[in-house]
Amino acid sequence: MDKFLINGPCKVKGQVVISGSKNASLAILAATLLFDKPVEIKNLPAVRDIDTMLKLLKSLGLKIAINKNNKSVLISRSKNINNLASYSLVKTMRAGILVLGALVAKNGKAITSLPGGCLIGARPVNFHLNSLKKLGMKYFIKKGYIYAKIKNNLVGSEIKFPKISVGATENTIIASCLAKGRTILKNCAIEPEIKDLTNFLKKAGARIKWVGKRTVVIDGVKSLNSISYSVMGDRIECGTFCVAAALSEGNLKIKGFDPRLINTELNLLKQLGAKIKKTNNEILIKGSKIIKNVKHLVTKEYPNFPTDLQAQLMVLLCKAEGRSIITENIFENRFMHVAELRRLGAKILIKNNKAIIEGNTKFEGAELMSSDLRASVALVLAAIVAKGRSIINRIYHLDRGYEQLENKLKKIGVNIKRIS
Ligand code: UD1
Repeated sequence: MDKFLINGPCKVKGQVVISGSKNASLAILAATLLFDKPVEIKNLPAVRDIDTMLKLLKSLGLKIAINKNNKSVLISRSKNINNLASYSLVKTMRAGILVLGALVAKNGKAITSLPGGCLIGARPVNFHLNSLKKLGMKYFIKKGYIYAKIKNNLVGSEIKFPKISVGATENTIIASCLAKGRTILKNCAIEPEIKDLTNFLKKAGARIKWVGKRTVVIDGVKSLNSISYSVMGDRIECGTFCVAAALSEGNLKIKGFDPRLINTELNLLKQLGAKIKKTNNEILIKGSKIIKNVKHLVTKEYPNFPTDLQAQLMVLLCKAEGRSIITENIFENRFMHVAELRRLGAKILIKNNKAIIEGNTKFEGAELMSSDLRASVALVLAAIVAKGRSIINRIYHLDRGYEQLENKLKKIGVNIKRIS
């Protein structure tokens, strides 16, 4: 199993280009199951979750032609359509459940593995199933699989999600595109990745209109048109590099991302002391010597502070002037990085879904274990500013969602090495 060796402390300096968004790509790729005609997706990040999704689509009968040079893929439908999304592929990546809506909408049936829980929380799929049921999907669950089918077509309906869910919103939007009549979805997640999905579908001829803050109206169409679409940049990768600069008194130019999409995060980093300049598609960020603490930071759905940046921000707060509190509102078990950060010298107390972080930590290098995607990158950040050598084990978690992390970090001055 690969590991990282990091010799700190390092300051990040220079320029970094943000890769395509993993989460937007996953939803868009799942939606390609709706198409009869070929569709080209560009700016895909070269990360393991994308490989897994492409394997899943291939197993479902799509032809996949990857062009590694320009990070694009041409996807077309073959004659051998299969409706089984197997456990072996879905277990490694929860976003596998996103093919359910597309399969039933397009093929009329699906057998999809239940994704199961994961370390950060139980993560059920009841909202996905309930909303697809309201569109006319019948299903039962047996031996870990969802057996789903429809009579003729899915039929548009008015659905209010009981709680905001990124995945359930995406699955239902995808399914509604080919449903008969009008679907109105209320209390939707409005993460930029969902807007990227609807922009993609609209470009292909889907009739989708956002009205009000969390409502989307979809009028079903018979088929979608062949298009080429470039996926947005990765919001969380961008936020992670911003934290790296703020944390290490660094000086970074971050390219390829629209700063308006992470206003909440940038305003917070400013409040903590970082100096930030924004242009159309660039962020200039300088870390300051003194990092201020934050009284109470709460993770919440977009446009609020994202759970996917909670671990990274906690590392920054470990070095702040005083005590900070973070409440994790989205996932029930997303503090697994805390035990590892303590090994580097952090003083963090956990009380239910609250982390109380004492500031002024002087991190010292140690051997660490990654537990999930975002927790792993938080350990990398801490190791960058820790004194001495850190070894981070099990970085396969990180490879799920960060493209070429060690190469990008090396270029901006981090002493990091991958050991295979
Ligand atoms: C997506 C993102 C993930 C991010 C999360 C929250 C992808 C591939 N993943 O995950 O990176 O951390 O949004 O921003 O885009 N829930 C239910 N029942 C359901 C669905 C969700 O109870 O059917 C709960 C979850 O357990 C969680 C909350 O709702 O507590 C929000 O989860 P959700 O927004 O659905 O997250 P994902 O789509 O899985």
